[in-house]
Amino acid sequence: MTERENYSLLHHNTFGIEASAAHFITYDSVADLQSAIAYIHSSYPDKTVLHIGGGSNLLFLSDFDGVILHSAIQGVTVKREGSDIHLRVGAGMVWDDLVAWCVSNAYYGLENLSWIPGEVGAAAVQNIGAYGAEAKDVITEVETVDLMTGALRSFQADECEYAYRKSVFKTTLRGRYAVTYVHFRLSSAFVPRLDYARVREVLRNTGAGLAQCSAADVRRAIIDIRRSKLPDPKEQGNAGSFFMNPVVERAVYERIKERYPDVPCFVEDDHRVKIPAGWLIERCGWKGRSLGRAAVHDRQALVLVNKGHATGQDILALCNAVRSDVFRSFGIEIQPEVNIIGGMPQ
Ligand code: EPU
Repeated sequence: MTERENYSLLHHNTFGIEASAAHFITYDSVADLQSAIAYIHSSYPDKTVLHIGGGSNLLFLSDFDGVILHSAIQGVTVKREGSDIHLRVGAGMVWDDLVAWCVSNAYYGLENLSWIPGEVGAAAVQNIGAYGAEAKDVITEVETVDLMTGALRSFQADECEYAYRKSVFKTTLRGRYAVTYVHFRLSSAFVPRLDYARVREVLRNTGAGLAQCSAADVRRAIIDIRRSKLPDPKEQGNAGSFFMNPVVERAVYERIKERYPDVPCFVEDDHRVKIPAGWLIERCGWKGRSLGRAAVHDRQALVLVNKGHATGQDILALCNAVRSDVFRSFGIEIQPEVNIIGGMPQ
C-alpha cells in the first residue's frame, strides 16, 4: 500500500479539475486492500472514504478532505469451457487494454465497448455501455471487499441489480464495497453486434463489409466513431456523457414527437422509451455553447467540457443551466451520469 498526502487529483479525473485529496492510498492485492482498510479505520476513523477508478466519471467540486482509495490490482486469468472463455480480471486494469487484449486473443464479446475510458472495476460498478452492448451482458461475477469490515464478498451477476448505467454498487450498496476482480464470460465464436446504423455505415465505408467483418474491424469502426464525436480528455477535459439518457413514459415521447417529428428514441420496454439527452440539449440551443470556463461539446451535446482551468463549480453551473432549460422546454429532468463529489446526491 502506498499513501500520499495532499495529493493532486489532476491526473485522476479526466475533467482535468485541479483538486487535491487529503489522503490518497493505492493498493495492489486483496490482502493489501485489507491492510489499507485496517489502517484507515485506526488512523482516520472519521474521514470519508471514496474509492475511485480511472476518474473518467467523476467531478470534484472542491478539495477532498477524506481518503481516496485506488486499485492497482492487475492481471487476467483465462479458463476455457467449450466455446466459452471465462476471464477473471483485476479491477485496476485499464478497460480498453482489456478490450484490445481480448480482441487480439480472439476472445469475443467486448469489442463494442472499445475505447471507453476507465478501469475494469468501475466498468462493473457503472455498467458501461455503448453501441448496443453493456458490461452486464458479459459479467458473471464481481469479487469485492467490504470497506467496513475487510471481509470478502462475491456477487453473482443477478445480485448486482444491473440496469442502464446502474448496479447495486451505485445504489443501495453505494460506497460499501471495493471491487477487486470482475469475471466475464466471453466466447471464442465471433457474433458481430451491428444494431447501430452508424457502426454498419462505417464498416461499409471502410470496406470491411457486414458479412465478413472481424472483431478487429468492429473495434476499429467503434474507435473511429468515438474519436469523431467525443473530445479527447488529453486535449479537452471531459467525462464522456455527462448526463444519462432519460427513460420516459411513451405518452411523454408522443407529446414531444408532435412538436418534433424527428425526435429519436430507443425502446426500453412496453411502456417506456429512452430519449437521447444529447438531442434534448441540442434542441435547447446548448450545443457548442459556453458558460464561463465550461462548455457543451460542439459535436455531442451530452458531453460537457473544461475549456481550460475550469473548477468543479464551473462545470456544475453549466450542468444546472442545461438541466433547467431541458426541464423548462420538455418537462423532463435529466440526471447526471457523472459522480459529483461533494455535490448533489444521486
Ligand atoms: N443526438 C443529437 N445531438 C447531439 C447528440 C446526439 O441530436 O448532440 C442524437 C443523435 O442524432 C442520435 C441520438 O441522439 O439520434 C443518439 O446519439 P448517440 O448515438 O451519440 O448516443 P447517445 O445516446 O448520445 C449513448 C451513450 C454513450 C455511447 C453512445 C453509443 C449514454 C449516457 N451515453 O450516447 O456513452 O457511446 O450511446 O452507444 O447512454 C458515455 O457513457 O460516456 C458514452 C459516451
